[in-house]
Amino acid sequence: MTDRTATLTFSDGAPPVTFPVLAGTVGPDVIDIRTLYAKTGKFTYDTGFLSTASCNSTITYIDGDKGELLYRGYPIEELATKCDFLEVCHLLLYGELPDSTEKIAFSGRVTKHTMVNEQMQFFLRGFRRDAHPMAVMTGLVGALSAFYPDSINLHDANQRDISAIRLIAKMPTLVAMAYKYSVGQPYMYPRNDLSYAANFMRMMFATPCEDFKINEVLVRAMDRIFILHADHEQNASTSTVRLCASSGTNPFAAIAAGVACLWGPAHGGANEACLNMLYDIQAQGGAAKIGDFIAKVKDKNSTVKLMGFGHRVYKNYDPRAKLMRETCYEVLDALGLGDDPLFKLAMTLEKIAVEDEYFVSRKLYPNVDYYSGIVQKAIGIPVPLFTAIFSLARTVGWIAQLNEMIADPEYKIGRPRQLFTGQTRRSVVPLAQR
Ligand code: ACO
Repeated sequence: MTDRTATLTFSDGAPPVTFPVLAGTVGPDVIDIRTLYAKTGKFTYDTGFLSTASCNSTITYIDGDKGELLYRGYPIEELATKCDFLEVCHLLLYGELPDSTEKIAFSGRVTKHTMVNEQMQFFLRGFRRDAHPMAVMTGLVGALSAFYPDSINLHDANQRDISAIRLIAKMPTLVAMAYKYSVGQPYMYPRNDLSYAANFMRMMFATPCEDFKINEVLVRAMDRIFILHADHEQNASTSTVRLCASSGTNPFAAIAAGVACLWGPAHGGANEACLNMLYDIQAQGGAAKIGDFIAKVKDKNSTVKLMGFGHRVYKNYDPRAKLMRETCYEVLDALGLGDDPLFKLAMTLEKIAVEDEYFVSRKLYPNVDYYSGIVQKAIGIPVPLFTAIFSLARTVGWIAQLNEMIADPEYKIGRPRQLFTGQTRRSVVPLAQR
């Protein structure tokens, strides 16, 4: 709360109303309009939440103009270079980085829960083999609530914590199972002596006849992908999880809603869409065709977008994109793919776009998805699985945000209002007379 207020006046002679202005620790102040309807009988109108803070939060802070991303106050650049994903999970869930004893205890808890109920295999069998992994993941994550009825009470902090650990532990197993099912290979059980990222890669790439050879550069790259995608304040999928959980549903169901939202190409599906876009340009002639592609993107009559560019909040270079670009170099170098034509095409396209007036004037810069697809492709992840991996990484953020909401004494079921522009009351004309 500040000692400042904001007064709203009306041109129709209605009396002005005053609202408190609230300040966060950093970032824009907010005008607390919770009493607006009671005082005026009016709602605010803000489609897409362009000017609306839907909650207060202590987890993630983004300064979109500076290109800054902080988890619990720590810059993403430091977390990505000094911590591993499970340390970041601890930070997001409990507010602090673990010390070495806490790290061992937390990793131990997570690894104890990496297996899924054996019945999950039969559930998975109901899907077509060619189903999109995000369709499968939406089903599998939602189904977890049927397997763990002992941790579905959202209002019990202990049960929420157990669900959080279960979700973080089981997401890699489920994503790997979805992949193995799609290619008709046997599922690989988790190995708890491996790191979180190495275990995931082994479940993806090992077979019963050939184990997975750990390449530290690739494991580090995967771990970094997880860290960079772990949370991003009140984005569409996180807001979906909050809204869904606000009804008191169970954590697994709420996270399944987040997975469904993330699937969209304007959100988590962008890395897949970005790689497909690069393939298209390559198929049409590569770098020589970038000009034609950019012209299409700028054409007001076309719906083509430069995927991996632009962000609702970042009006500067997405800091995650810089880290992902660095990882991209490391991975391609480690795999001897430095001359990879797709990567070169991506670099050329980025260079042209960041200097082009259309993108400069709209403050459109590469986002994390611009490079994450190339990294994942190089690691051997099939393109349709990219968004599923994003959902794996984002699960901790969703859970941390959900826990924060439920523990907030001001928490209420989310219930937006509307500006109704449809037909007013009328009577049904009997069928014969219509
Ligand atoms: N390519 C071309 N033009 C774009 C792009 C793009 N990628 N992004 C925005 N624009 C243009 C819009 O057409 C609009 O132009 P106009 O003012 O002439 O009408 C202007 O830039 C502003 O764009 P908005 O759509 O208002 O921006 P908004 O904040 O609503 O959208 C979004 C952000 C959805 C991410 C958008 O930039 C986009 O679709 N980007 C491509 C998809 C993508 O990469 N998504 C990943 C987001 S990051 C993540 O989820 C991890």
